[in-house]
Amino acid sequence: MGSNRPSTLAPDFFSPRFREQAYTLYRDLREKGAVHPIQMPSGEPAWLVTRYDAALAALKDPRFIKNPRTLPDWKDDLPEEIEVFDEHMLAADPPDHTRLRNLVHQAFTPRMIEGMNHRIQEIADTLLDQIASTPSRRCDLIDAYAFPLPILVICEMLGIPADDRKRFREWSNALLATTNRPEKMEEARPKMKEFQEYLGELFHMRRSDPADDLVSRLVHVEEEGSRLTSNELYSMIFLLIIAGHETTVNLIGNGVLALFQHREQRELLRRRPELLDHAVEEILRYYSPVEMATDRWAAEDLSFFGEPIPQGSLVIVALGSANRDKSQFPEPDRFDITRQPNRHLAFGMGIHYCLGAPLARLEAKIAIPTLLERLPELTLDFGEEPLPWRQDFLMRGLTKLPVRF
Ligand code: HEM
Repeated sequence: MGSNRPSTLAPDFFSPRFREQAYTLYRDLREKGAVHPIQMPSGEPAWLVTRYDAALAALKDPRFIKNPRTLPDWKDDLPEEIEVFDEHMLAADPPDHTRLRNLVHQAFTPRMIEGMNHRIQEIADTLLDQIASTPSRRCDLIDAYAFPLPILVICEMLGIPADDRKRFREWSNALLATTNRPEKMEEARPKMKEFQEYLGELFHMRRSDPADDLVSRLVHVEEEGSRLTSNELYSMIFLLIIAGHETTVNLIGNGVLALFQHREQRELLRRRPELLDHAVEEILRYYSPVEMATDRWAAEDLSFFGEPIPQGSLVIVALGSANRDKSQFPEPDRFDITRQPNRHLAFGMGIHYCLGAPLARLEAKIAIPTLLERLPELTLDFGEEPLPWRQDFLMRGLTKLPVRF
C-alpha cells in the first residue's frame, strides 16, 4: 500500500446534511483516487468506488458478486421475516440471476412498455386534474404526483390492488431503512411479516382465480415447481414493487427540482420539446435517483485500480459520483439538457442493468412535460430551509416537494 493511500473515511451518510454536501465530498474523493476504504455506519469496513471508469469496471466485473452466501465463512444473520424477501435477482449471481431475470424480462422490453404510453398518460392526467382542483393552489408534488404515478403503473402491471399502495410505502420504507443499518432490523421485522401475509393472500387469490397480470403468471411458474421457489416468488414481487416506485418517484421529483433550479433549461425545454429525451437523461445523470448501487462483495482477493481488496470485502459503487466525473462529463456540475454524449450510469451497467429502465424513462417523459403544460404557473415553495433530501443510503430523492400554482 502506498503512503498516499487515504485513511479510512467515515462520512456520516445518514446525517441530514450529507446529501447536500455529497457532490463536493465525491469530487474530493475522485481527485484522490478511484476506490476508497470507508466505514459504514454499522462499523463495517467497505470500499467506495467514486470514479467513472472504476464504477463502470466494477459493475461489469464478475469478481464482484451479489450473493454473499457463496463466500467462505459467510454468516447469515438475516431474520426470517427479511430473508423471505432476499432471494431476488439483484441479490443473485448467474445462473440463478439469469433464470430469475428471464422469467420477467419479457414484460419490461421497450416494445411492451411502449404499449403502456396511453395508460400512463391517463394516470398523469387524472392526478393533475385532482391537483389543479385543489382550492389552496398548493400541494406537495411528491405526495400528489411523483409517488402515486409509478406505484399505480407497477400495481397495474403486477395485478395488485392500487388502494393498498399506502401500505406498500410503509413496508418498503421499513425495509429500505435496514439497508446497511442492522440496528433498524428489529423495527422492520413485524412490518415485513405483515407484507408477507399480504402477499400470501394475494398469491392464494391469483392461484384460484388467475388474471392477465404478472403476479398470476409468476404464481403459475412457482406451481410448476422447477423454475421459481416460494421465497423467490415473494422476493421477485417485492423487488418489482420497491424498484418500481421507490426510484421513479425520485426521478420525477429530482427532475422537477433540477428544471426549477435552472430556469433557462426549463425555458429551453418549453421552446424545444424535442429535447425531452436528452433532458430525462440529464436529470438521471445530474441527480441520480439511485445514488449508490446495491452491495457487492469481492469473491476473491483481488487488486482493483491499484487497491488490494481482500476476499469478502463489501464494495459500493457510488453511481451519483461517477455521474459527476469530469473525465467523462465536461463541466459535470452543470445541468445541461442538450448534453451529448451522456453515458451516465444511473441505471447501473452489466448483467444487473436496470430491468425497468424503459418504464422509468417513459414515466418521466410523460410525467414531467404533462406537469409543465398543465400547471404553467407552477413555482417551488420550499422556504429557506435546506432541501428535504431523504435520509436513506441508496437513494437521492426529496421527502417533499411543496409547490404553488
Ligand atoms: C428512475 C428510475 C430507476 C432507476 C434510477 C433505477 C436504477 C437501477 C439500478 C442502478 C440498478 C442496478 C443496481 C445495481 O447494480 O446494484 C437497477 C436494477 C434493477 N431495477 Fe431499476 N431503476 C429505476 C426504475 C426501475 C423500475 C420502474 C423497475 C421495474 C419495475 C426497476 C427494476 C429493476 C430491477 C428488477 C433491477 C435488478 C436487475 C438485475 O439484477 O438484473 N427499476 N435499477
